[in-house]
Amino acid sequence: QRPVLRLLSCPGTVAEDLRRDEQPSGSVETGFEDKIPKKRFSEMQNERREQAQRTVLIHCPEKINEKKFLKYLSQHGPINNHFFYESFGLYAVVEFCQKESVRSLQNETHAPSKGMEAAIPFRSRFFNLKLKNQTSERSCVQMSNQLPPSSKKLLEVLCDAESIDDQLNTLLKEFQLTEENTKLRYLTCSLIEDIAAAYFPDGIVRPFGSSVNTFGKLGCDLDMFLDLNETRNLSTHKTSGNFLMEFQVKNVPSERIATQKILSVIGECLDNFSPGCVGVQKILNARCPLVRFSHQASGFQCDLTTNNRIALTSSELLYIYGALDSRVRALVFTVRYWARAHSLTSSIPGAWITNFSLTMMVIFFLQTRSPPILPTLDSLQTLADAEDKCIIEGNNCTFVRDLNRIKPSENTETLELLLKEFFEYFGNFAFNKNSINIRQGREQNKPDSSPLYIQNPFETSLNISKNVSQSQLQKFVDLAQESTWILQQEDLDGPSISGSQPWGLVALLLPSGANRKSIGKKKSRKPANERIKVLLESIKNNRTENFTDTNGK
Ligand code: CTP
Ligand code: MG
Repeated sequence: QRPVLRLLSCPGTVAEDLRRDEQPSGSVETGFEDKIPKKRFSEMQNERREQAQRTVLIHCPEKINEKKFLKYLSQHGPINNHFFYESFGLYAVVEFCQKESVRSLQNETHAPSKGMEAAIPFRSRFFNLKLKNQTSERSCVQMSNQLPPSSKKLLEVLCDAESIDDQLNTLLKEFQLTEENTKLRYLTCSLIEDIAAAYFPDGIVRPFGSSVNTFGKLGCDLDMFLDLNETRNLSTHKTSGNFLMEFQVKNVPSERIATQKILSVIGECLDNFSPGCVGVQKILNARCPLVRFSHQASGFQCDLTTNNRIALTSSELLYIYGALDSRVRALVFTVRYWARAHSLTSSIPGAWITNFSLTMMVIFFLQTRSPPILPTLDSLQTLADAEDKCIIEGNNCTFVRDLNRIKPSENTETLELLLKEFFEYFGNFAFNKNSINIRQGREQNKPDSSPLYIQNPFETSLNISKNVSQSQLQKFVDLAQESTWILQQEDLDGPSISGSQPWGLVALLLPSGANRKSIGKKKSRKPANERIKVLLESIKNNRTENFTDTNGK
């Protein structure tokens, strides 16, 4: 039989939170995990965006024969690659070799004819595949996993690791975005761009933040911004002879009001017409106005802003730092996970430290090593050439974009040592006097009395951790000191590495105080399963949500 494709109209159900523990495991090894991207950020973004434009998202029936499915789709042109995943049903992401194939598929697709409900017609790239006749075939597709491992699985693999260095690298490997998840993120932005095009045909929806800066973990939110720069540039640069043609435009009193108006209509559009976008909230009075929504089919919580080129630039800077040395990401992922395990970060906005601030702290710390593991932003600026020059809203965002022009570090310290030193460094940092500044890689006097001051690298008068309260900072310091103590105890006790009890990184993830009892007393060993159970119990009792689930904002 031939399957029928239908355009998806807005589904009515509200997204529930995906519980990782309930997801089937089977993940596809991509090999992507071990590769450090060396491409320029802009090059990588352009490639991925172009790829996404040739890609479609298809909601599939549960029973599907992969071979027949691909044969059916390749009537529209050759397929470059595809994968399946599960999230409220079975989905396929199919990337054609040519954009025309998408159009051909759309031309053959019809709107659903539902009895009681009326569909809002919209020719998106999000389809619903139906089978004309029920089939008895079994589904035989391999699923790509889009979720991080459960706490249980993670703790088990960490206990089985060979060294603390191995633990940090394992954590990175388990949590980093996979090739498929990255593709799905760019595809989601591309689908949103199609919607935004109703008002702004030249607008580009670009992902930024942890989805693209190489510090994102599976399950993190998807930050995107509607880039209207093309439209703006066109109106200022094209001149001919003595004439200067300008668009007639509506004027509003400020840039902020313009942003609010743009996001307001896009929010309406997403809410009313975009298949799969649910729970749309317009948060227009925030310092950085945004539209928040859930993209049901991908499972991503999305934040859409506009006019946010500086944030994109800081994503590019982090991308460069992440690519310069393989220890950077392992350490950042570990510190973030440690912070989440101790509820230092939260998915609810508030007086907590954010993942972004923690990343800056790790980068700063790595700049202070001798010899430094990471260069300062000032030195990256010195390496810049004319092409790298970039001023955004009066802020100097110039730095070298070509990774190959930055000399690798000669520092050979192990991850184990760096983790220990990180906790020691920040456990003793003079937060009351000094600020953290990755431009200079040196402590500076704090310009105001915020408990934690981390200078925004580009908008240098801003503190990225202005929200952090004294008590949250104190909690961070106490936990950093406790972690230093735990690692020192392990050193004193000699190599306690054993699959049978929490050690190394796992010991650092235990609820505060638990280690003083278990590690202080000499090795009261219980069988492996028993100890993991106790550990999980104590973690569960200590918090209300699964700490690997949220994005730590
Ligand atoms: N950002 C910023 N200043 C802040 C907060 C955020 O410049 N005070 C920018 C950063 O470029 C950051 C991006 O906005 O990467 C997205 O913010 P957020 O989602 O909070 O952080 P992520 O880095 O995406 O980390 P997470 O995984 O927690 O979402
Ligand atoms: Mg984010």
